[in-house]
Amino acid sequence: MAEDAVAPVKPAPELDTTVSHSARIWNYWLGGKDNYAVDRQAGDKVAAMLPIIVVQARADRAFLGRAIRYLAGAEGIRQFLDIGTGLPTADNTHEVAQLIAPESRIVYADNDPLVLVHARALLTSTPQGSCDYIDGDLHDPDKILADAARTLDLAQPVALMLLGILHHVPDLDEAYSIVRRLVAALAPGSFLTINHSTSAVSGEAMEEAVRHWNQVGTPSMTLRTPEQIGRFFDGLDLLPPGVVSCSRWRPVPGQLPGTPAEVDEFCGVARKA
Ligand SMILES: C[S@@+](CC[C@H](N)C(=O)[O-])C[C@H]1O[C@@H](n2cnc3c(N)ncnc32)[C@H](O)[C@@H]1O
Repeated sequence: MAEDAVAPVKPAPELDTTVSHSARIWNYWLGGKDNYAVDRQAGDKVAAMLPIIVVQARADRAFLGRAIRYLAGAEGIRQFLDIGTGLPTADNTHEVAQLIAPESRIVYADNDPLVLVHARALLTSTPQGSCDYIDGDLHDPDKILADAARTLDLAQPVALMLLGILHHVPDLDEAYSIVRRLVAALAPGSFLTINHSTSAVSGEAMEEAVRHWNQVGTPSMTLRTPEQIGRFFDGLDLLPPGVVSCSRWRPVPGQLPGTPAEVDEFCGVARKA
């Protein structure tokens, strides 16, 4: 696909409890209860092929917490656009941000109908801040931006969170194009945070697990190399330690003995100058 082409948006899927889905399998691995038998079966099969997947999912959520604490704390960010929300679990984006700054404004966007239902019920804001939920498809970044502008002031810095979602865009050029469009709409001083699956650590075991996922799960997953993941940050100021396994992005000193083991979720945080 050409560099700046974005695929036509498919209609939002209806809730189908006979097909396993990313958000619900993820919820299962995180220890949540918002999943169906079909999701648990798919999740168990992938976990049997790749036992570290559960550790990986939890490392992803722990990274989300550390990244938002950094952005809200050290960088003073008060606006967050989290695309690919997932089902509500512990330490959701708005909870971490509003614990530091209760006035924080958060917009969540996802295209899974179950995520939207749960988000509306469970993700409630502090009185000082606000939370909005967009039924939005990452393949249509302009609509997400237009809807987000109801709650966020896009003339002010925003932290754009794309965690565990870009690997659901199969075409790499389209994925780069979507990220460029989103970042272009953000004010200077905004941040881009990405976490993306790779097979750099587990190799064939991760690739085999993803092949299985792509037979039973939706939407499909595409693994990328750390170098390809790094290119999402082209033109931005990538913060130390750069693109690394998410378990190694600024781990909290003393929380675990030694250096955390790498997992196949690579991440980075970058500032728009
Ligand atoms: C693996 S979960 C990640 C959840 C959360 N961001 C996290 O890191 O824990 C992926 C989420 O992306 C959503 N998603 C996948 N493709 C999407 C798309 N094209 N547009 C919007 N959301 C999408 C799924 O519904 C799911 O909630």
